[in-house]
Amino acid sequence: MANGWFETVAEAQRRAKKRLPRSVYGALVAGSEKGVTIRENMHAFSRIAFAPHVVGHQPERDLSTTVMGIPTSLPVLISPTGVQAVHPDGEVAVARAAANRDIIMGLSSFASKPIEDVAAANPKTLFQVYWTGSREDMVQRMERAKAAGAVGLIATLDWSFSNGRDWGSPWIPERIDLRTALKLAPQVLPKPAWLADYLRSGAIPDLTTPNLEPPGGQAPTFFGAYGEWMGTPPPTWEDVAWLREQWDGPFMLKGVTRVDDAKRAVDTGATAISVSNHGGNNLDSTPATIRVLPGIAEAVGDQIEVLLDGGVRRGSDVAKALALGARAVLIGRAYLWGLAANGQAGVENVLDILRGGLDSAVLGLGRASAVELSAEDLYAPEDFFLRLGDREAATARATTAATSAVGSAG
Ligand SMILES: Cc1cc2nc3c(=O)[nH]c(=O)nc-3n(C[C@H](O)[C@H](O)[C@H](O)COP(=O)(O)O)c2cc1C
Repeated sequence: MANGWFETVAEAQRRAKKRLPRSVYGALVAGSEKGVTIRENMHAFSRIAFAPHVVGHQPERDLSTTVMGIPTSLPVLISPTGVQAVHPDGEVAVARAAANRDIIMGLSSFASKPIEDVAAANPKTLFQVYWTGSREDMVQRMERAKAAGAVGLIATLDWSFSNGRDWGSPWIPERIDLRTALKLAPQVLPKPAWLADYLRSGAIPDLTTPNLEPPGGQAPTFFGAYGEWMGTPPPTWEDVAWLREQWDGPFMLKGVTRVDDAKRAVDTGATAISVSNHGGNNLDSTPATIRVLPGIAEAVGDQIEVLLDGGVRRGSDVAKALALGARAVLIGRAYLWGLAANGQAGVENVLDILRGGLDSAVLGLGRASAVELSAEDLYAPEDFFLRLGDREAATARATTAATSAVGSAG
């Protein structure tokens, strides 16, 4: 059946490719520059091996946990993604799927649906902000999210406006009018299932950002919002501390890859960090997040909750991240492929795939719960793990190198 259940995220991606207009699919693939980081995020998981037991498996396994005090049935969160035109129900469908599976939902401030609708669909919704606009704008957007029922905030601060991809960027219009519709027609008309979904919903994608709408004003277009963001001076650590003070509740800083930044995040009073390189869409050649996770978890894991995102496509990836110190992971493309392939049911399908895969790993590794997974359950090649921004580790390495150089010279 062309549009029903799928067995892996890879199959969901194949269906998404078939169903979506070329530029929408291209926007989800995303990535930047040469694509080193986007490839590495996924490839790095393959370099970590499990050490399963043959006997001693547990008849029942518990996969639940809490993230920033919020209970979740699975250590997997919906990562915020600012995408448009994937499905007419957009982030509301994702929120419903997540709610049905008792999963925490992250909503991007660049998303296509308003926080009010999303939080109504999932009471465990976190609102994501960038550092964009004036302080008054930021406070107004956060207050709106709070009033809508958002239970936590994600501040994503790693974006560095890299642009250009060796495989080409999709053409996305400022808004859809007759002229742009005609220009898009050659890629939309061969995608009847996608078109039919939108025709049935009675709306065409309007490519605006309703969560950035000023009081009494109009929602900016995606590119209008991007322009405001580019024109906003980047934040200092004092600004981050200010932002954290404005949000009375769980606060996650997303985009950390270095040990020193993780320590600064602790100082701001954040509740959690996500070790993230924005899914490889940002500064290309940033290492895979799974390679920098253990160093960060070791340095700050007893002071702040450490999560990871980037490259998670299966339950075994979730197990590896947990074993290396993550409390939970966030997923981006995996659920976007599910949404594109089969709407809300497709997102539920993806969450079920991750649950099944994680359960298999916990079973095979002889654990009774996902939180028990540890580094002893894994094998990774030497030099696989990196500690970026850790002066003490760098000094220790240099001393060892110098000692062995002297040793061999002697
Ligand atoms: C199409 C797309 C749009 C994204 N938009 C946002 C966004 O608006 N805010 C944000 O914090 N992260 C955004 N991200 C990053 C994701 O939240 C997440 O960090 C990343 O997708 C994780 O990698 P994965 O896709 O391999 O799971 C986006 C990612 C993709 C693929």
